[in-house]
Amino acid sequence: MAEHLLEVKDLYLYFRTTRGVVQAVDGVSFILDRNDALAVIGESGCGKTSLVRAILRLLPRNVHTYKGSILLDGVDIMKFSEERFRSEVRWTRMSFVAQAAMNALNPVLRVGMQMAEPLVIHHHLSKQESLAQAMEVSRMVGLPPDFLSRYAFELSGGMRQRAIIAMAMITKPDLIVLDEPTSALDMLTQANIMNVLKGIKRDLQQSFIFITHDVATTSELCNRGVVMYAGQIAEVGDAHQFYLDPFHPYAQKLMASVPTLHQDKELEFIPGQPPSLLDPPQGCRFAARCEKRFEKCDQEPPMLELEDGRRVKCWLYE
Ligand SMILES: Nc1ncnc2c1ncn2[C@@H]1O[C@H](COP(=O)(O)OP(=O)(O)O)[C@@H](O)[C@H]1O
Ligand SMILES: [Mg+2]
Repeated sequence: MAEHLLEVKDLYLYFRTTRGVVQAVDGVSFILDRNDALAVIGESGCGKTSLVRAILRLLPRNVHTYKGSILLDGVDIMKFSEERFRSEVRWTRMSFVAQAAMNALNPVLRVGMQMAEPLVIHHHLSKQESLAQAMEVSRMVGLPPDFLSRYAFELSGGMRQRAIIAMAMITKPDLIVLDEPTSALDMLTQANIMNVLKGIKRDLQQSFIFITHDVATTSELCNRGVVMYAGQIAEVGDAHQFYLDPFHPYAQKLMASVPTLHQDKELEFIPGQPPSLLDPPQGCRFAARCEKRFEKCDQEPPMLELEDGRRVKCWLYE
């Protein structure tokens, strides 16, 4: 076994559009270990979905640039053919819960059969064996066994989301990537789903990447965090540490905009807007909105390595 489960190095994903090239993922690097739960946080449009789609090679047709290396257990899966990627990686080693996937369940197939399908297709198990395992993962996500014979429209939003998570777990992948798995749910159901995920995290040796624009929900589940800004990583570190004490001025603003139950603080908001990814600024991408900017910020800051594996893309820490 390699040292890290996943090691992403200099990953780029640009899209072609009629208005120019969108630099959605622009030189992203990070590592993920076994049993890690990594939160990817950032404002809408900063490239979170593009980043994980690049990792899972679930790409749209208008790709302009797609390069970098993605080591899974030390093996560069970017070099795999589409065929090999499909049979050896996607769904078997890494699975994906897409944004709003719970609304895309097949309406004419019973939920249990949909759950079992990846095992029939990817692991060539019989229908019977597959259904037995569907039963097992349903139990883990708190979906009652009799729900397996229902159709999607007969389930509540929370139950559909549980079914989707069970589906991502059924092939026992090393890594499950969830793209805003709770954002379409009401508060109570969000909390229930978070508890389900915490339970899975505790009981299994799986790793997670958890995308969200809601910082508060991830703080209990995730042990590591990445803050993205305009297609790049602004800061990476131990989640608990940087929820309490973020270094990057953007991360500081982001954390200060999160309401907490126990603290009666003035909530901040970040004035201005992120830059266009069609033509991002040459220097630091956050500079235009940053209260701490100085002359040097006209040049692009390097990713600085600080103590405890924390990395910050900001001249202040040079
Ligand atoms: N298929 C695509 N074609 C062109 N632009 C895209 C495509 N998908 C995403 N984008 C653009 O890439 C940027 C990052 O989007 P996305 O990864 O969805 O961000 P997030 O998930 O953080 O909201 C946005 O500017 C978005 O409009
Ligand atoms: Mg998204």
